[in-house]
Amino acid sequence: MNFKKIPANRIRKLRTLSLGKEKYTFCDLNHGSSKELIDLCSNDYFGLSRDMDVINAAYDLTIKEGLGSGSSRFISGSRPIHALLETNLSEWLKQEKVLLFPSGFQANIAAIQTLADRNSIIIADKLIHNSLLVGAQTSGSKLIRFLHNDLSDLEKKLSKFSLLKKSILVVVESLYSMEGSIAPIKEISKICKRYDVKLFVDEAHSIGILGHEGKGLCNKLTSDITMISGTLGKSFGSGGAFLACNSKVADQIIQTCGAFRYTTALAPSLAAGALKSLEKIQRNKTWGKDLISIADKWKNEISKLNKFSIKGDCQILSIIIGDEDKTMNMQRYLEELGFLAIGIRPPTVPSGQSRIRITIRRTLNNEILEKFILALKNF
Ligand SMILES: Cc1ncc(COP(=O)(O)O)c(C=O)c1O
Repeated sequence: MNFKKIPANRIRKLRTLSLGKEKYTFCDLNHGSSKELIDLCSNDYFGLSRDMDVINAAYDLTIKEGLGSGSSRFISGSRPIHALLETNLSEWLKQEKVLLFPSGFQANIAAIQTLADRNSIIIADKLIHNSLLVGAQTSGSKLIRFLHNDLSDLEKKLSKFSLLKKSILVVVESLYSMEGSIAPIKEISKICKRYDVKLFVDEAHSIGILGHEGKGLCNKLTSDITMISGTLGKSFGSGGAFLACNSKVADQIIQTCGAFRYTTALAPSLAAGALKSLEKIQRNKTWGKDLISIADKWKNEISKLNKFSIKGDCQILSIIIGDEDKTMNMQRYLEELGFLAIGIRPPTVPSGQSRIRITIRRTLNNEILEKFILALKNF
């Protein structure tokens, strides 16, 4: 791969701008080297992973309860903090029941395995997250894909497969993690209701941000959606995840789901941090909207360069480069200038659509935006 070296004087000029407090030390997974860079790619959308109230809540509980939970929820892993977080999340989301998981990947597998089996058909958006695919594969169901966010294709698949008189589960995300595209959840839920099929929605990237007061895009549709998943490691700045559904389905998870029953419970400290984050998100009702306007500003400024096509409806933006080598050159170029912005290549995205994916966070200031725009201009 031929990496074009950037002239030192250009790098020096760009570095003269102050970087603010947005630097993190990142470690390269392959060779372990670490670097301080401005985070343009994590999902810590509100910067809550570094919020002192959140950190202190986790710290205080760690001192009281210890670091890890030490066991599964069925043995000794269930602590009052788990019950409190589950109750507060369910009240916030107006869901009968919330169950915590150590990760969103695991929660998604649990959800699909609970809602579908080898006698079912899963009809899933073409761009669903790998955890949902693994869930679908391990459930033994027949998996059918519909074109991304394409309501008429979904309807076509539903009308064809409902003739088989099998149980059908539709699987979508509300905000897609690679495209940054929002799903028409209301319309999807109407179609699912008409065909009388189950609907599962992954709200990993929307919870805390989108919908009324950041309650996600499924919030006003609870009775029409069988189950949602949300993560606590993204906008909540902690770790872990949850499933929300009615009590009957939750009971099925508790009684039958290995991914819930046979795993060490979410660390109490992470649950305490997530609870503090929830309080903050509830109190700061405009954070989600504020984040989207910051993201709109970034999108506009990048578009104004007339140099790249840019995709993304919300805080997840993709600068489309096309060529794979050029994309990776750009990632390295940005890294030299102090930014961590990751190049995404096939097979994660279709061939010819390699891109730099950036995530906008609430704490990114104008100075960082200016520096980034200058970097893009000079690429
Ligand atoms: C859409 C989506 N769902 C689920 C997950 C998994 O969540 P977690 O990181 O908590 O395992 C991710 C992770 O990045 C994601 O992007």
